[in-house]
Amino acid sequence: MTWLITGGAGFIGSHVVRAMTAAGEPVVVVDDLTSGRADRLPAGVPLESGSVLDRDFLDRVLREHAVTGIVHTAAKKQVAESVAKPLLYYRQNVEGVRVLLDAAVAAGVRRFLFSSSAAVYGTPDVDLVTEKTPCAPINPYGETKLVGEWMTGAAGRSHGMATAALRYFNVAGAATPELADKGAYNLVPMVFERLAAGRAPLVFGDDYPTPDGTCVRDYIHVEDIASAHLAAARRLVEDPRAELVLNVGRGEGVSVREMVRVIQEVTGFTDSGLEVAPRRPGDPARVVASADLIREELGWTARYGIREMVESAWRGWSLRHPA
Ligand code: WQD
Repeated sequence: MTWLITGGAGFIGSHVVRAMTAAGEPVVVVDDLTSGRADRLPAGVPLESGSVLDRDFLDRVLREHAVTGIVHTAAKKQVAESVAKPLLYYRQNVEGVRVLLDAAVAAGVRRFLFSSSAAVYGTPDVDLVTEKTPCAPINPYGETKLVGEWMTGAAGRSHGMATAALRYFNVAGAATPELADKGAYNLVPMVFERLAAGRAPLVFGDDYPTPDGTCVRDYIHVEDIASAHLAAARRLVEDPRAELVLNVGRGEGVSVREMVRVIQEVTGFTDSGLEVAPRRPGDPARVVASADLIREELGWTARYGIREMVESAWRGWSLRHPA
């Protein structure tokens, strides 16, 4: 039983590698190292550096490592970039999963986990988003994730592969400072950057129809994301017919204002104030998961709260930006 983790040198993939190796599962990593870093991998985990678009490379890796299950986290993940370069996103995220599924089927791999996103829901007009809430992505990134889910499910049904699509909500935090996300395009790192530069954090819109006027999201610790993968991977081993589509969130809404307050407390920049900027196009007022289905299906619930996410993210940010 060997798991291939694509994107295993990336932010989420490296946390999945860590959780699976800690649980005694043998893993091998495929990563093209465009945004991943080899030093994110624990000692002893083999890294095959190459692209999920390279079929010959994948055939060799699946064969040489006798892979029996795949966790596919390798993807492009920036919404704004996906609007600017949609064809790049379709190539990496849609063609990538197609080539990988094709190789998996040919190699007789029987388990496939796909990293999906709450972005498949677009701007859901419900209090809690369930897996039955209609999918209506509003940007190419979300579209590629939805197509990836469809392809994964269809391939699984037709070729006897157990599958899971995990829809991550807003991921934050890090298991260790070294594993923290490098990108600075989400709320937590963007606020860190402003505070460290001696500036007030930006709040994109404070006139939304929410309790304090700022957008509400469901933030989840990346270690919880990783433990959800482990739980799903085990289910796919137990149930060869599984076809799971699950939200991975905490089921708790936190506003931008609340999040900024916690960040100010954790970083010590309590006097920074706030700067209200115009709304960012495409931002839904509220996106919060119903986390009922994943609890019922896998017995999984999130363990970490907002403070632990912010504290661990700050340790990672401080490591890369020494004072
Ligand atoms: C959160 C809230 C901003 C920065 C995105 C993708 C989603 C998923 C996760 C990958 C929003 C506000 C932000 C700032 C702010 N990606 N904000 N000031 O947009 O909910 O989700 O990342 O799977 O698909 O869409 O996350 O962290 O960018 O923003 O006020 O400096 O914080 O407007 O309301 P988002 P985010």
